[in-house]
Amino acid sequence: MKILHITPELAPWSKAGGLGDAAAALAKALGSLGHEVRAVTPLYGSVPGRESMSVLLNSLRVGVGGPPEKAACRVMSLHVAKNFEAWFIEHEDYYGAKEIYPARPDSAERAAFYARAALDACLATGWIPDVIHCHDWTAGLVPPLLNTVLKDSPLGGAASVISIHNLQHQGVSHRGIMDFLGLPGWLWQPSELECLGGVNFLKGGILHAKRVITVSPTYALEILTPQFGHGLEDVVRRRESALEGILNGVDLDEWNPRTDRLIPAHYSPRSMKGKEECRLALAREFGLRDDPGAPPIFGVISRLWDQKGLDLAAAALPAFLREGRLRFVLLGSGDSALEGAFRALAAGFPTLCGVRIGYDHGLSHRIEAGSDFFLMPSRFEPCGLNQMYSMTYGTPPIVRATGGLADTVRPWSPGSKDATGIVFEHADLQGVEWAISRALELHADPKAYRQVQLNGMRAEFSWARSAQAHVEAYRKAGAAL
Ligand code: ADP
Ligand code: GLC
Repeated sequence: MKILHITPELAPWSKAGGLGDAAAALAKALGSLGHEVRAVTPLYGSVPGRESMSVLLNSLRVGVGGPPEKAACRVMSLHVAKNFEAWFIEHEDYYGAKEIYPARPDSAERAAFYARAALDACLATGWIPDVIHCHDWTAGLVPPLLNTVLKDSPLGGAASVISIHNLQHQGVSHRGIMDFLGLPGWLWQPSELECLGGVNFLKGGILHAKRVITVSPTYALEILTPQFGHGLEDVVRRRESALEGILNGVDLDEWNPRTDRLIPAHYSPRSMKGKEECRLALAREFGLRDDPGAPPIFGVISRLWDQKGLDLAAAALPAFLREGRLRFVLLGSGDSALEGAFRALAAGFPTLCGVRIGYDHGLSHRIEAGSDFFLMPSRFEPCGLNQMYSMTYGTPPIVRATGGLADTVRPWSPGSKDATGIVFEHADLQGVEWAISRALELHADPKAYRQVQLNGMRAEFSWARSAQAHVEAYRKAGAAL
């Protein structure tokens, strides 16, 4: 099968969160299964390694409105892995800046442009995909385009699929974006793309794709409800028969304590000595206590947004730190009040708590490897990759029972044999306090703790399985073998 991914993030070239990892790993896994895969994404100013790319199309005229000189772009290509090529849309005005999602008045146009350019690049090269897989809102207007403007083009027969990585971000823009893409006027109605006076990109994708995928089975059920639907629950319900949840996985070429070049020592279930070295190095890197009697390290790597529930952690932690019961390290950025709260926590407990505000790929690996627990108290979590990474690194996660967290972590209680982490139900202060206390109780029993660690390290979160499930979904969407 020929499979085209349209994605705003593609790791390692661009990544704001899990989407970058997920899109790249899925494309790679589909390529390994023998499918011919292309992933199209913008060439942001921050993308490294452009000297190794080659020119696929020197000047592509993209089917959008506006001044003709702005409607052209260059397309670069890079062989990434077996059967997998990345195509980068180069357009200085739209993507020359370093940020992936800058706050700009033309953000809808930026999204619409690269998505339409992805389709035009296929038409111009004659590489006609059987499946067009759109990721999140920025590619949301592709399925409506395929069902209308491009219906009679060679792309009209492709099976369109949309993955919802996060229903909260929907991309709502002014009506003019329909003219920019040449979409027919009848799509401007509440039962179609219109939503509260604007064009809703994700709604268009959900309504027009042949198949709708979310990144975990539990999230697929949750988004049918007002609590998790972010106002689109009725739209999702209209597509319930085409909806399914497929879990992401762990790319062991990138996240593997046996081979990871970004961590100070390697380890495996057979020999965990290296993990102790990683813990010691992490404590030293943050200037924390590193004596043999020091309490366990709880790690966090996260975007600091409401979704992640870390305000609850900030409220729960002082009591534990005051009693010297744990060490805490955090890497993240986002909400400035929350950044401030964590900075203040580190200042208040300098030998027990360390905080880095910012984005740091290497440090994210060192935290996964060096922590004793990984904290992820999300209010909602479509899939979540970090809890799977942490299990792979022998760092039991502490998670709330929602979305992909509920689907990937098996809860520990005294006496349980197959547990892989701590799971709690309620997104409130008591819930997080309970979960942290539970983790400390587990840690105080070295045999039980070791068992949970090993269970997690041996759990299988394979992208090959996820890719197989995607191929099934593509078939259901109408793609031929
Ligand atoms: P989300 O996509 O909702 O942010 P995920 O758990 O799916 O959550 O994926 C987050 C990814 O982003 C992980 O690979 C994590 O390591 C990475 N990440 C998040 N914040 C940072 C940061 N500040 N520095 C480095 N990596 C980060
Ligand atoms: C989104 C979700 C996260 C998921 C990731 C990759 O960013 O918030 O839960 O793991 O996409 O699918």
